[in-house]
Amino acid sequence: MGIIGCGRIGQVVASCASTMGMTVIGYDPIMPADELAELHITKTDLAGIWKNSDFITVHTPLTPETTNLLNDATFAKCKKGMSSVVPLVGSGSGIP
Ligand SMILES: NC(=O)c1ccc[n+]([C@@H]2O[C@H](COP(=O)([O-])OP(=O)(O)OC[C@H]3O[C@@H](n4cnc5c(N)ncnc54)[C@H](O)[C@@H]3O)[C@@H](O)[C@H]2O)c1
Repeated sequence: MGIIGCGRIGQVVASCASTMGMTVIGYDPIMPADELAELHITKTDLAGIWKNSDFITVHTPLTPETTNLLNDATFAKCKKGMSSVVPLVGSGSGIP
């Protein structure tokens, strides 16, 4: 499971995924790696999210960086088996 935005909602999703036995990786420019590790989230960069995730969830505020984050170019970087994207970002799903 790859989580983009590891704040309150991202952490709840991480906890659920971890409980189900998933390996959880996360991208968040603010959250330190050691804090994420305590939440069973291995910090990575966006390239790591695209490359390694079977599922991707997005839980960020809507900013210029996150608007249209998921697009043809980023989908093209994802694993062939990446079959589910769950945008739970309020108005900032990143979906064009
Ligand atoms: N918490 C709620 O009840 C609730 C309800 C409806 C909508 N939302 C919306 O869902 C989103 C997430 O909510 P939350 O409560 O988890 O917010 P949060 O502020 O706790 O977490 C958001 C995280 O996104 C990270 N972030 C910021 N810019 C980023 C970027 N460019 N790439 C990756 N990560 C980035 C921040 O560092 C932060 O850790 C927000 O847009 C919020 O408005 C939240």
